[in-house]
Amino acid sequence: FGAAQVLVASNRGPVSYEIQEDGSLRSKRGGGGLVSGLSAIGPDAGALWVCSALSDGDREAVRRGAGEDGVRMLDVPADVHADAYNGIANSVLWFVHHMLYQTPLEPVFDAEFRRQWASYEAFNRAFAEALAEEAAEGAAVLVQDYHLTLVPGMLRELRPDVRISHFSHTPWAPVEYFRMLPDDIAGQVLRGMLGADRLGFLTRRWADAFTACCEALAGGLGETVVGVHGLGADADFLRKRSREADVDERMAALREQIGEGRKVVVRVDRTELSKNIVRGLLAYRRLLADRPEWRERVVHVAFAYPSRQDLEVYRDYTAEVRRVAESVNEEFGTAGWTPVVLHVQDDFARSLAAYRLADVALVNPIRDGMNLVAKEVPVVSDAGCALVLSREAGAYEELGEDAFVVNPYDVTGTAEALHEALSLPDGERAERSKRLAAAATALPPARWFLDQLEALRG
Ligand code: G6P
Repeated sequence: FGAAQVLVASNRGPVSYEIQEDGSLRSKRGGGGLVSGLSAIGPDAGALWVCSALSDGDREAVRRGAGEDGVRMLDVPADVHADAYNGIANSVLWFVHHMLYQTPLEPVFDAEFRRQWASYEAFNRAFAEALAEEAAEGAAVLVQDYHLTLVPGMLRELRPDVRISHFSHTPWAPVEYFRMLPDDIAGQVLRGMLGADRLGFLTRRWADAFTACCEALAGGLGETVVGVHGLGADADFLRKRSREADVDERMAALREQIGEGRKVVVRVDRTELSKNIVRGLLAYRRLLADRPEWRERVVHVAFAYPSRQDLEVYRDYTAEVRRVAESVNEEFGTAGWTPVVLHVQDDFARSLAAYRLADVALVNPIRDGMNLVAKEVPVVSDAGCALVLSREAGAYEELGEDAFVVNPYDVTGTAEALHEALSLPDGERAERSKRLAAAATALPPARWFLDQLEALRG
């Protein structure tokens, strides 16, 4: 048996390393909702976080034994990781749960897919073995997300004594869509997860979809208990961090780009197909076309930082985002007014600066497990913001009442919602923003994690 009483397992870990010119390693915070949520547990909680080595710097840190305490990075062979992460997790499972396939042509489950699936199994086995090695007797192991669906079942076989949970940070597909997967693969995914004592989802909707899949395809849930844990924003961290000097500097620079006295519509996403960034830009163009009174009076600040750029569809999507933003600027821009300010470089301080300036936050994903941006902007914005929110985001369940709710496919509907959100009188906007912030912070990350740990320990 190992020594760790609490173990977290995820593909992306809390830190990543970059090799500096002088050969030293610099660490930086990992991105995405999963890491934002779990970071609250911090290194002092005594947990061991098992994750993948993703960058050259990470692999170097493993080689030098230079990683942070409480983090064990697994350096699985690069080709195995590429198949498991890019091939299966991000191209198949992510696409299934976010319902992103162009179904007349995709997906194609061929020999290449089978080969990649074997890597996915090997990748999951590497995690299961590392966890089995590190876990103390009766330890609690909290496995995260669609990269690691087979781990609970594999770990159960290796270590019947440990308590295992699995948490999905994504939506779960409806059974009609999920069963697009080859039957044996669908069965392996479900049975792999059902190796856990407890399964967690971000909303009731995703939990029910999973349960329906198990009933239809795996003979039910068996002994496994399914729970809902709606991860909230970390108010204390965000309020403090967004008042630091680097954020003030970014605010000054943004103000310069925006110009005096204009309203600000903000969005911040990974350049991710499911985030629906292009339709958001088209809705903003519709707003400027149909409601000329907003020309020169509003700026759309859109941060879309690069994500999963090994995949061609993501590179194409990033290019499309740039193209559409430029075309809006060409069509409507004037000497003193740039309608869209687009940045595609990740910069957390700049994102917080944009949050502070936001009058309206635009969050219009096609589907999203939760979407923490929808929860963060109302907490951080200086004067309170209105929220335009897709009904397909998990956050809708908690924030729907005070948001301007949209069908993410409906561009004219989204344009109209932007108009209404921009037209909200200051007082009412501030009131709504307060209610949004309260709902958004109901279950802060530390509490979210402890609830699951307590439930798992029983
Ligand atoms: C989503 C997933 C996470 C993932 C994050 C960033 O939030 O649920 O598991 O870490 O996206 O994606 P990436 O592929 O960069 O890890």
